[in-house]
Amino acid sequence: MESLVIKGGSSLKGQVKVSGAKNAILPIMAASLLSAGEVVLSGVPDLEDIKVMSDALTILGARIKREADSLVFDGRYIQSCELPENISRKMRASNLVMGALLARFGFAKIAYSGGCAIGSRPVDLHLKGFNNLGYKVYEKGGFMVGEGKPRMGREILLDFPSVGATENLIMAASTIPGITIIRNAAREPEIIDLQNFLNRMGAKIRGAGLDLIRIEGVKQFGGINHVVIPDRIEAGTFMIAAAITRGDVFIENVANEHIQPLAAKLREIGVEIMPTSTGLRVIGSRCLRPTDFKTMPYPGFPTDMQPQTMALLSTIKGTSVVVETIFENRYMHVPELRRMGAEIKVEGRVAIIKGKDQLEGASVEASDLRAGAALILAGLFAGGETRITNLRHIDRGYENIHLKLKSIGADIQRKL
Ligand code: UD1
Repeated sequence: MESLVIKGGSSLKGQVKVSGAKNAILPIMAASLLSAGEVVLSGVPDLEDIKVMSDALTILGARIKREADSLVFDGRYIQSCELPENISRKMRASNLVMGALLARFGFAKIAYSGGCAIGSRPVDLHLKGFNNLGYKVYEKGGFMVGEGKPRMGREILLDFPSVGATENLIMAASTIPGITIIRNAAREPEIIDLQNFLNRMGAKIRGAGLDLIRIEGVKQFGGINHVVIPDRIEAGTFMIAAAITRGDVFIENVANEHIQPLAAKLREIGVEIMPTSTGLRVIGSRCLRPTDFKTMPYPGFPTDMQPQTMALLSTIKGTSVVVETIFENRYMHVPELRRMGAEIKVEGRVAIIKGKDQLEGASVEASDLRAGAALILAGLFAGGETRITNLRHIDRGYENIHLKLKSIGADIQRKL
């Protein structure tokens, strides 16, 4: 079985470059379905999730080719609006094609993406939102089916600022005549990137990044070139790699504003973070302090950085407390970190961490994407050898993370 083998203990030093944001690329790829022209996306890493989305779009009839770090998308030949179970089960984000298909063709049939390791992850907010926009959406034989051509924009309110629902509803509303207002929208930077992408294709959307988004429907979308924003979660993972190894790393291609929720917390515990015009220098001091945090929708502390930050707190003497408010089952990394000697107690959504100045390498398994990242980070700190298996989760969201970490001094190898 393929594994990552890490010999911990080296302080990381040097420069590492962040790739384009997976969570911006996936909705933007779905939004490409709106265009009957050629769309070129640049800054696209080679990730499993992106391959799954490419497969999904290809099944619908899109023609996609990769040229270096770009994806070239031709949506002229879309001939199907139905996504079968074998593809939608592979990735929850495949349900993002529903909004674009409804907006362009007035019909979509998507197999349920099913459960996921970090919680039940329902799509009720997406479905309620489509219905509130004026589409007719119902469940049939394991599929979500949507149809209709709403005649007028409406005002809708999300019960919770779901990232995926906000993105899906922006796309679904983009062709509805008149003005659609989405209240209590998610404010993540990836939603701003989606808005920018759509507007450059011809949409009329304002407000992404705020909790009220205003969409004026348009009839047609053209082709464009778009460079995706840097991945704030990959950047955050490298920030913690510098902190946990008490290293000194320059991280290139970072949007300083997007990493503020994490940077503020890391500064609080004593990590030095110095932004420059081209990136971010991060220095992990030897005397870091414990802390408490709660995951929240953006601009709160990102749930996608919770496991990695917990790995760091496990190496800082004193008691830290983490509250996970976004996903009900996002502590799958805890038993694995415990195998490495971490002292973490979980009660419901609360985790109490008694930090130590030593962890020991062990054989551990990545249960999901960010849990995998947390284990890599713990392995960089731990004495002895850490062997991580189930790499398919890590490959979903990190491009060659072992090579990037190796380039800044980590002793890490990918073995068959
Ligand atoms: C996106 C990100 C994911 C990140 C998450 C939260 C992508 C591809 N993925 O996921 O990496 O962890 O945002 O920042 O961008 N919920 C419902 N009903 C719904 C929709 C969501 O109850 O219809 C719940 C979810 O189960 C979860 C919470 O709302 O508990 C947040 O989910 P959401 O913001 O929708 O996350 P995703 O878009 O799935």
